Amino acid sequence: MIVIFGSINMDLVARVQRIARPGETVLSRRADSFFGGKGANQAVAAARVSQGGPLRVAMVGAVGNDPFGEACRKNLDENGVDVSTIRVTDEPTGCAFITVDETGENAITVASGANMALRSDDLPESLLSKASVLVLQMEVPIADSLEVAARARRAGVKLVWNFAPVPAVKERSAIAELLAVTDVLVVNEHEALAIADVIGERADDDFLCAGADISRLFGPTCIVTAGSRGAYAITPDGAQIHATARPIRPVDTTGAGDTFVGVLANGLAEGLEVGPAMERACAAASLSCLTAGAQAGMPQRRALEHHLAQA
Ligand code: RIB
Repeated sequence: MIVIFGSINMDLVARVQRIARPGETVLSRRADSFFGGKGANQAVAAARVSQGGPLRVAMVGAVGNDPFGEACRKNLDENGVDVSTIRVTDEPTGCAFITVDETGENAITVASGANMALRSDDLPESLLSKASVLVLQMEVPIADSLEVAARARRAGVKLVWNFAPVPAVKERSAIAELLAVTDVLVVNEHEALAIADVIGERADDDFLCAGADISRLFGPTCIVTAGSRGAYAITPDGAQIHATARPIRPVDTTGAGDTFVGVLANGLAEGLEVGPAMERACAAASLSCLTAGAQAGMPQRRALEHHLAQA
């Protein structure tokens, strides 16, 4: 089983020629709503590629008692995710305000709402004992994520932690605490450099150097996603593995990182080594960029296999 402990959002998306600078207003023709939230996106990505296999995917999250919350829960259910551990709270459902420019790049502001009401207790021990992989991100309270991580460690569950968005934590000891319980850390280039900065390592804008420092000092395998350059894993013994990304013309990169994490979690739960699991995750992330919205382009298992066989 794959358990995702994380955020659930409704994404309100405006396409713009170029993303507004501070103090500036830009116009967009319309706004569209899509299902999102890093946790929910990762759950959908994992569930779609787990289809037809023995692996179940469960989402532990919190939504508001409002139409967005109901719609998000229904969407997860329809994608084959177990939603019995999604709690309805008095806070409004999380909402992300996203602008996407002509190149498919985005800027995101998240109004957390119910996501900040998620607690470690929302994850029942019975679910943890059935899990082989637990996935965390950074859009729910860090203290509760840490507690869940410690419980996962005691239960012998592999922990994949996606440090996105960049943690607001500024003390080395706090980052060390998070990394000490993490088996596989997934970050993008920017996040890798931000962590290196907090832990006091001079990575000189080199994300591979940052990944190597994180891995060597704190023990997790560090995977750095690098957009069109694919992804790099650095293991604690210093070995480096590279998975390539095929060239695409992106429509919308929102959720590409989440697709990577969800499909990676599926691969690890199915017993793949990090290299092959990353290859699949990179291919799925590329496919996800070809459709607007975080989840719409995430491939089903057969589509992903077909795509990989063609390569
Ligand atoms: O990673 C993309 C996601 O970040 C969006 O779906 C948005 O909800 C924010 O959480």
